[in-house]
Amino acid sequence: MMDFKSAIAELIVGALRAAFDAEPLTAAEIAAALEVPPDTAMGDYAFPCFRLSKALRKSPMMISDALAGSVSADYLSKVESVKGYLNFFVDRATYAEKVLAAARSESYGSDNSGAGKTVVLDYSSINIAKRFHIGHLSTTMIGNSLYRLHKFFGYNAVGVNHLGDWGTQFGKMIAAYKRWGDHDAVVAGGVDEMVKLYVRFNTEAKENPALNDEGRAWFKKIEDGDEEALEIFNWFKSVTLKDAERVYDMLGVKFDSYAGESFYNDKMQPIVDSLREKGLLKEDQGAQIVDLEPYGMPPALILRSDGATLYITRDLAAAKYRKDTYDFDKCLYVVAYQQDLHFKQLFKVLELMGYDWAKNCEHVAFGMVSYEGQTLSTREGRIVYLEDLLNTSIEKARAIIDVKSPDLENKDEVAKQVGVGAVVFFALYNNRIKDIDFYWDRALNFDGETGPYVMYTHARCCSVLAKAGACDAAPDFAALSDPMAQDVVRLIGQFPEVAKNALNRSEPSMITRFSVDLAQAYNKFYYENKIMVDEPGVRAARLLLTRVTRDLLARSLDLIGVAAPERM
Ligand code: ARG
Repeated sequence: MMDFKSAIAELIVGALRAAFDAEPLTAAEIAAALEVPPDTAMGDYAFPCFRLSKALRKSPMMISDALAGSVSADYLSKVESVKGYLNFFVDRATYAEKVLAAARSESYGSDNSGAGKTVVLDYSSINIAKRFHIGHLSTTMIGNSLYRLHKFFGYNAVGVNHLGDWGTQFGKMIAAYKRWGDHDAVVAGGVDEMVKLYVRFNTEAKENPALNDEGRAWFKKIEDGDEEALEIFNWFKSVTLKDAERVYDMLGVKFDSYAGESFYNDKMQPIVDSLREKGLLKEDQGAQIVDLEPYGMPPALILRSDGATLYITRDLAAAKYRKDTYDFDKCLYVVAYQQDLHFKQLFKVLELMGYDWAKNCEHVAFGMVSYEGQTLSTREGRIVYLEDLLNTSIEKARAIIDVKSPDLENKDEVAKQVGVGAVVFFALYNNRIKDIDFYWDRALNFDGETGPYVMYTHARCCSVLAKAGACDAAPDFAALSDPMAQDVVRLIGQFPEVAKNALNRSEPSMITRFSVDLAQAYNKFYYENKIMVDEPGVRAARLLLTRVTRDLLARSLDLIGVAAPERM
């Protein structure tokens, strides 16, 4: 798009030269200081002249008065000096024209700043032999959105599902399977059957503690690469992943790698050796730790006294492996804030090891999910499985569509898109660090700040455009000067900044919110303005606004991983 900020900054530089024969700030500095007034009555951009007072030894008022007369351009309708501010009013028609011209491009909003760079994203990272519950919704969808956002900006993105596939519980599970398990029952029951075996094991182990030794023995066998143990373990893994795959398919989420914790079994020794060589390892009651006291953190436990490795040991190996394999520019870990300390310790140890790329690792933390006002707890049996939640949502969406659009052809497909989209949208609506309370009436409301509302607005734009057919008249941009149209144009003009901020702050909710704002603004415009008017130029302008809105709504939904059906 025509960059109004830069253009205005150049004007100011010119005016400063003319009025004061001075260049106290560069154009870039002036552009950065330009503000967007909260109220458009104060203009579209404002320059606070106190920034020049010191250099020019004049009051802001004197400076803004002196400059106001000598800045003008065809795209500005007015320049005012008010209390030391220079206020710039962009000509409405020109503004609409420039914004819409830029926004018509496929890549609008992307500056391609990621070209030639690689980002590794660690997200979803589910645990083997556990069912996918809504606690893993945020990481999955925030990660998926950041993946898309990075690709949009030209990055090479690598999505990693860092599977939780390591731990003594897997030894117990094999022991239980060997005792009471049944191959066909596990095939039929999937993860649920494995969980049953595990629960039975723990119950019986209370009566018969010898079972625990059996479990430990099987875990040792996995570690030692025993053929039978590995075969069963890998089978458990594939059963879990098959269950998870159904959910990933529904959500449209993919990964480039499933290298989980067990993948690093043979990659931890070099890390331990290197920690030792660098003098970072300390013995503490038989265990090996890295002392982090100087940094105000508890020690990082690297090896237990029995020599067993820990979660952080595997993460150290994983980080090193990712750097060696992908040579990433950034590595993002989309993991709940409960693991804040873990990641602080992880990054600190990497830094102490002398890896300067540790600064490019970032923990993208997010809040907890509760359901209809209730916190979820596996121990107390209050679990909501993601697959069930999505299926219920699809059913509910279907019921609404049956009433609202009885004639829709592909109702099942649309119900799936709307049902899943509603859940995903809800999960990505608030700042990620906030806890989320999932309520059906808030997620599925077609008139609220919801996925269905934005999807519906997108479908509305599609239908306006389909009904209008071809229109070759040149748009009359003056027809977009009314406040409603201008609100839509202004939002469209903000999209590049919104997308950039969402990327830099790893905050998909900025895109989600943007889509709601744009949908609301468009709907206001739509109710106030007839689109299919007789004047071809006016009609063309309103249709163009509709088309760009449709494309940006689709783009926004795509960036957060929500479908955009054309009819619903
Ligand atoms: N599996 C872990 C969990 O469910 C998350 C793993 C996150 N990734 C990592 N590299 N530590 O809590």
